[in-house]
Amino acid sequence: MKVAVFSSKAYDQQSLEAANKGRHQFNFLEPHLTPQTAALSHGYDAVCCFVNDSIDADTLAELKRQGIKLIALRCAGFNNVDLAEAQRLGIRVARVPEYSPFAVAEHAVALILGLNRNTHRAFNRVRENDYSLHGLLGFDLHGKTVGVIGTGKIGAAFVRIVAGFGCRVICSDPYVNKEVEQAGARYVSLEEIWAQSDIISLHCPLMPATRHLINADTLAQMKQGVMIINTSRGGLIETKDVIDALKSGQVGYLGLDVYEEEADLFFEDNSDAILRDDTFARLLTFRNVLVTGHQAFFTQEALAAIADVTLANLDAFEAEDFDRMHEVSV
Ligand code: NAI
Repeated sequence: MKVAVFSSKAYDQQSLEAANKGRHQFNFLEPHLTPQTAALSHGYDAVCCFVNDSIDADTLAELKRQGIKLIALRCAGFNNVDLAEAQRLGIRVARVPEYSPFAVAEHAVALILGLNRNTHRAFNRVRENDYSLHGLLGFDLHGKTVGVIGTGKIGAAFVRIVAGFGCRVICSDPYVNKEVEQAGARYVSLEEIWAQSDIISLHCPLMPATRHLINADTLAQMKQGVMIINTSRGGLIETKDVIDALKSGQVGYLGLDVYEEEADLFFEDNSDAILRDDTFARLLTFRNVLVTGHQAFFTQEALAAIADVTLANLDAFEAEDFDRMHEVSV
């Protein structure tokens, strides 16, 4: 099949070509897929997309005009796709449901440890020949209460790690995951998560019910100085409310790998450009905020798995063996 790969970077090209072994013909394109760039899919059978491609009704209408039959997402989340419209137009959507839950769970823990022990600040100090410890005081994770929202594949991997630190783990998810209970965690209500957690880590998908789950109202129910970690999707947090809570000290630490308006910022070298997003700029002024640019998935193992499953989805589509394809539908 001929596949136009949008939002592609050198590492995508390398991993997809390594897995491809000449089966499909890829054209690697740098731009995001948007209504304006969708016409670049002219002459292809499928598009391959990532988290910040905007696959809304306008994009889908153009893809349909260009004869695209498959959208092969090289990610797990599909909140950026208008699934109902894709279905109506007869365009199938496939994804990579799981590539390395460990990659994301371990990155969430890296944010916790970095924020708590101030390793990012210590790194700079030592380089300046400054070995003073003021401002670097941390706390033991052992014995602290960690609230986990969403206990699917990534949440479960995260629970196992923090349980290993000796944390008390409480969770919220509409579905009980027995593995998580076996790791010693307990399911509780969201209200109990807010009230009891020293650290809250988000691992649920972004959807209407979870959009702005962290907002002024829920922040007010949390412990003073709580640590919030978001490696899931930016839209789970109402950023302006969390900034107010950082200013008042209600939030003591914030670790983000995702940001609601990240599409125009992340995955690019913008070092020569002016930062125009005032909300994001304000976030960067807090010494107790640690932001990474959607890199939680970025391990060798995850890239190889993403490429393998994407290729398997393309193979299954070409063979019309749709049961073997990791299809997403409404
Ligand atoms: P999953 O589908 O295995 O687990 C999601 C869990 O969230 C499910 O158990 C589901 O029941 C639960 N859930 C749904 N609605 C909920 C609610 N209202 N409250 C609490 N829990 C709820 O997904 P997986 O693989 O664990 O991924 C989780 C999220 O991580 C994805 O949706 C994606 O947004 C994000 N992600 C981020 C990456 C990064 O690089 N930063 C990479 C991969 C995924």
